[in-house]
Amino acid sequence: MRVRKAIIPAAGYGTRFLPVTKALPKEMLNIVDKPAIQYIVEEAVASGIEEILIITTRNKSSIENHFDATPELDHMLEIKGKDELLAISKGVTDIADIYFKRQKEMKGLGHAVLQAKAFIGDEPFAVLLGDDIVYHEKPCLKQLIDVFNEKQGSVLGVQSVKKEDVSKYGIVDGLKLTDRLYTVNGMIEKPSIEEAPTTIAALGRYILTPAIFEILETTEPGKGGEIQLTDGLIELAHKEEMFAYDFEGIRYDTGDKLGYLKATCEYALRHNELNQSFKDYIKELSDTF
Ligand code: UTP
Repeated sequence: MRVRKAIIPAAGYGTRFLPVTKALPKEMLNIVDKPAIQYIVEEAVASGIEEILIITTRNKSSIENHFDATPELDHMLEIKGKDELLAISKGVTDIADIYFKRQKEMKGLGHAVLQAKAFIGDEPFAVLLGDDIVYHEKPCLKQLIDVFNEKQGSVLGVQSVKKEDVSKYGIVDGLKLTDRLYTVNGMIEKPSIEEAPTTIAALGRYILTPAIFEILETTEPGKGGEIQLTDGLIELAHKEEMFAYDFEGIRYDTGDKLGYLKATCEYALRHNELNQSFKDYIKELSDTF
């Protein structure tokens, strides 16, 4: 079966980014001129996804507004002859078929994914976390979909992280099959260095089979009192074959202050209008500090 639908969980509190996240969703923080979540939607569309469900919550209606039509703005741009800007605005409105659902209580990522059960139905689907951006010529999600098409089993997007960072991620226990592909035997959510079986971390991209929903419905709250997607994945890996793919690309955690600043800097250095002037500025800055 083909992967046609994607979920973007974006309902988290964003406590690592307080105080800005008191009233602003971290997914709407801009990386140069686009909110973080737009990069993620663009990756899904470039990977062949046709329908997207964004999981939001109270105080996050700016995400819905961003992908809505803006007739007054567009009309003003039209009469002023600002065609390029008009195309940018309309491009966001028409980007994809996007649906929204509110997670009423933030009970964790597993609980956020469960909100999509009716939307997904009985087909494989993608999950892209609302604050993880991956830069690569071949979209990260497309890399995972290619693996799914070959293996017809769930695929986790992974990369190796530093030993001292394993406690930030869901860590995979698996066997290497080929250069970038692993079979998943189990996982541990945010282990200590001693507990971690590997340094292979799940980094915000998943292709899952619909069997995950039945599992998540009975998954008890785990670490942090939240329904952990990792706990559901462990059970899924026991029931079905599961794979992990070491995707190519630079991954930015834009929900983390340093990750956000790195993304901002590097996307500015790649930006058509800004690259030279921003590069000059960075050079000047490094002489000053
Ligand atoms: P994070 O671990 O980044 O949590 O969630 P968070 O609450 O958003 O941020 P911090 O750690 O407090 O700073 C990973 C992803 O899961 C979503 C988040 O929006 C993020 O995209 N999420 C998390 C939900 O949608 N619902 C939840 O209940 C929890």
